[in-house]
Order: sequence, then structure tokens, then C-alpha cells
Amino acid sequence: ESVALPFTIEPTTAPTPADHRADLIANPAFGRVFSDHMAMVRYSEGRGWHDARITARKPFPIDPAAAVLHYGQEVFEGMKAYRLESGGIATFRPEENARRFQASAARMAMAALPQDIFMTAVDELVRIDRDWVPTGEGKSLYLRPFMIATEVFLGVKPASEYLFMVIACPVAGYFGSGCVSVWVSDAYTRAAPGGTGAAKCGGNYAASLIAQRDSQTHGCDQVLFLDSREQRYVEEMGGMNVMFLRDDNTLVTPPLTGTILPGITRDAILRLARDQGLTVEEAPVAIDEVFEGAATGRYREAFACGTAAVISPIGSFRRTQGEAVFGDGKTPGPVTLALKKTLTDIQAGRTNDPHGWVHMI
Ligand code: COI
Repeated sequence: ESVALPFTIEPTTAPTPADHRADLIANPAFGRVFSDHMAMVRYSEGRGWHDARITARKPFPIDPAAAVLHYGQEVFEGMKAYRLESGGIATFRPEENARRFQASAARMAMAALPQDIFMTAVDELVRIDRDWVPTGEGKSLYLRPFMIATEVFLGVKPASEYLFMVIACPVAGYFGSGCVSVWVSDAYTRAAPGGTGAAKCGGNYAASLIAQRDSQTHGCDQVLFLDSREQRYVEEMGGMNVMFLRDDNTLVTPPLTGTILPGITRDAILRLARDQGLTVEEAPVAIDEVFEGAATGRYREAFACGTAAVISPIGSFRRTQGEAVFGDGKTPGPVTLALKKTLTDIQAGRTNDPHGWVHMI
């Protein structure tokens, strides 16, 4: 279904002064600083999508009986706008985000947002807030499209009204530089077959928080979830996918069987790895194999990947029975760094874009 919806553009009457904005975007903490505008589109059964606008970013009223506040009918996306070498601004594979947003919404029995509306909302927001896109290595404007069920009703059923929005925040890295340490959770799992693991819904992230907190009490930065049936195979890290490099130059990552998020960064890296002559395997990865392989040298490198995380080298995994360390646990592996450079060079327009992933705004 292709629906072009005209957006009403209502520029803020109180824009952030340029010098204050420059301070805010110089070194922003992830997700703490927001741009001046937001996109909003409403849906109701019968009327369809309507009332599309770009307007000043501000709190909005919501009825206490809105369905999202009770049963968590919510989906979101994460994407970034980059300032290119050429001076232009671009997003990365936004059609993939639009498509995944529809898939997530379908899993949560929510209305399907036409891809045109998703794309226009993001493009128009970036256009009006273009001065919020930071310059500099690793910096970007993080975009957060999301949709909530707004129907005022306490019965458990798919809502008949939704609100789609996009907000934006200038960001630098999600992690500091260097390697992250990862706790392998044996107390919690993230998703079961038939569940919502492949959907980008808020509930998945809510359910991961206790495990993430647990990882910190074990002295680690992040948590890794194992499969819910046997707790034997690697799944994902809750907010990012995970990949491993073996000594035969094979990049291996868990397959998309419905319990992990189909990452767009994940997909891009697999293609770039193939381009660079690595063998790519989407296959189950047994956690015992990772621990043994780190000791024997069979497993050489590991990294987390996602829009926020980009490519974050993993220095070590820890679990109740011990530790798996890659190299000295602090120095990123060469293949991880090479993949990161290739990916971020394309995103920032420093090299050509062989797959047509860069979407100019
Ligand atoms: C992203 O990578 O965009 C996400 O949505 C994950 C979250 C950790 C910020």
C-alpha cells in the first residue's frame, strides 16, 4: 500500500540558539539531548493515517487509559543521519527500517504504517533539524521512530488508534572506545520460539533490563542472552547483535530464526564481510565452543553490532564457570576494526557506496 500523506510543517517558535546548540552537539551523551522538532502522524480505524505534522518537540497529553500504558503495544526503530564528507546529510538504508517497522507492528497486532509515510516523516524531520546533525568521527543524529497504541480502552485487544512519532538526538558513541566485557546470563533469557524476539517492541527491552543490571553487578558492560530451550546457543545482547571471527577467517553469527532482532547493521556487515573475502556463516554458535575457542585460538575476535553500537569490539565474555578472553581483552581485533572502518566510511560518504545504502536527504 503506497500512501503519500502531506505533512504540515510547523517550525518551532522557540528554536535553540545556535551557540547553545553547538555546545549541546559538541559531545552529547547518548539519548540525553534532543533536537527542536518531532514528527507526528495519527491513525484511527476507519479514517486511516491522518494529521501528519512536523512540529516543535514537546510533551503531549495522553489519556491514562491509553492502551500502550497498560499492555505495552509499542514498536520502535533506531537509525541515524550522518553528515557526509561532501557536506550533505544522509541516512543509511532507511527503507529497511520502514520495512522492519511494519514487521514489528504486525507482530504486535498494530496498524501498518505505509513505508512512504515513515520515510517522509524521517526525511522531513532531518531536513528541519539539519543543524542538529553533528560533525565529526562517530557522531550522528540518532533517529527514533516509534508507534504507540492510544485507544482509550482497558480491554485486551489490538487498539483501533495509534500515534506514530519520530524524535531525534545528536549522539557520539554508545560505548566509550576500547573493548566491552560481556556477562553471559544463566538466570534470564530474552525470547522464546513463537515469541516477540524478532520484533523491535519496547517490551523486549523492558524484559532485558534486569539481566543488563545483573551483568553490571558481575563487573561487565553488557549482557549476552542464550537460547531459551537449552541455554546452549548464543542469541543476542538485548540491544545489539553479536558476531565472532574464527581462525579460518569465517565470520559467524546466529541465524534469524525468529528469536533475535534482524539487525540492519548485522545485515550490512555480513555483506561487507563477503565483499572482503571472509566466509560468512549464519549458524548456531554454542557458548561452550566460544569459551573453548577463545582459549585455543579457534575464536579470535568478537564484536557487538547495531545502529547505536555500530561495531563494538568485545574483549571478554564471563559466566559463572569462567572467562573467555580475546587477545589481551583490551585491544580490538584487526578484522573487527577493518569491518568497522568499511562500514563507517560508507555511512559518512568517505568511500563509494557499492550497495546503494546511502539515502541523501
Ligand atoms: C539501536 O541500536 O538503534 C537500538 O535500538 C538499540 C538501543 C541499545 C539503543
